[in-house]
Amino acid sequence: MKPSMKPETFLLASALLCTLLGLGYPLSCEVCTSDGPNCSGKLQTCAPDKDSCLVVVTESNRKGSLAVTSYKGCVKSSECDSGSFAITMNTENYMGSTRRCCKNDGCNQDPLPAFVRNHTENGLRCPSCIAAFTETCTSTQETVCVGEETHCVAVSGLAQPGIKFAAQGCGTETTCHSKPGTLVPSGSHLLTIKKTSCRPSSQASGKAE
Ligand SMILES: *[C@@H]1O[C@H](CO)[C@@H](O)[C@H](O)[C@H]1NC(C)=O
Ligand SMILES: *[C@@H]1O[C@H](CO)[C@@H](O)[C@H](O)[C@H]1NC(C)=O
Repeated sequence: MKPSMKPETFLLASALLCTLLGLGYPLSCEVCTSDGPNCSGKLQTCAPDKDSCLVVVTESNRKGSLAVTSYKGCVKSSECDSGSFAITMNTENYMGSTRRCCKNDGCNQDPLPAFVRNHTENGLRCPSCIAAFTETCTSTQETVCVGEETHCVAVSGLAQPGIKFAAQGCGTETTCHSKPGTLVPSGSHLLTIKKTSCRPSSQASGKAE
């Protein structure tokens, strides 16, 4: 009795190999989440439909409590582009995040430079609100805009699977172009942005117009 490969086994192995070659070898990305500007975890094989690695760092102020959160993982490239996301609901509720998407094994291991918030008021203002369990919220107040946040932004998405949220405030132009599916870690939540809509914000001094 000698150890030889059965024809069936050989066929199965060839079929598997062809499938792997046909689809491209699966990507692997570092996967982790933690407080602070960098996180570290294991390289993991991505699901076949996740063809990019993501690294993102967010500075968020929720009810006056400031947090920096990092996240790395596998994503679909249709739901990821490198850029930033910044929105201000009011002086005690804002978030700013930078992210990078890349397509090589382990390419998301290096940390990103921290998001630097520009706190200087730019003279613009926008309606603002924030609410959970809903896709829209009704603005009850205005917020003053800072730095490069020159647009009035409405965003909606998921705060965690199945839990909707909606917010309005001042945002940067790149925030307006966030792809549906963009991930923004914030404290213990990983927000999924589903929808953004924008219009230029008005002058603080031009309220009568
Ligand atoms: C960030 O984390 C990676 C591991 O994912 C580690 O190799 C690297 O040294 C860390 N960088 C900094 C600046 O802490
Ligand atoms: C911060 O924002 C203000 C107002 O938009 C702007 O004039 C200033 O140049 C910004 N500072 C930096 C360092 O980008």
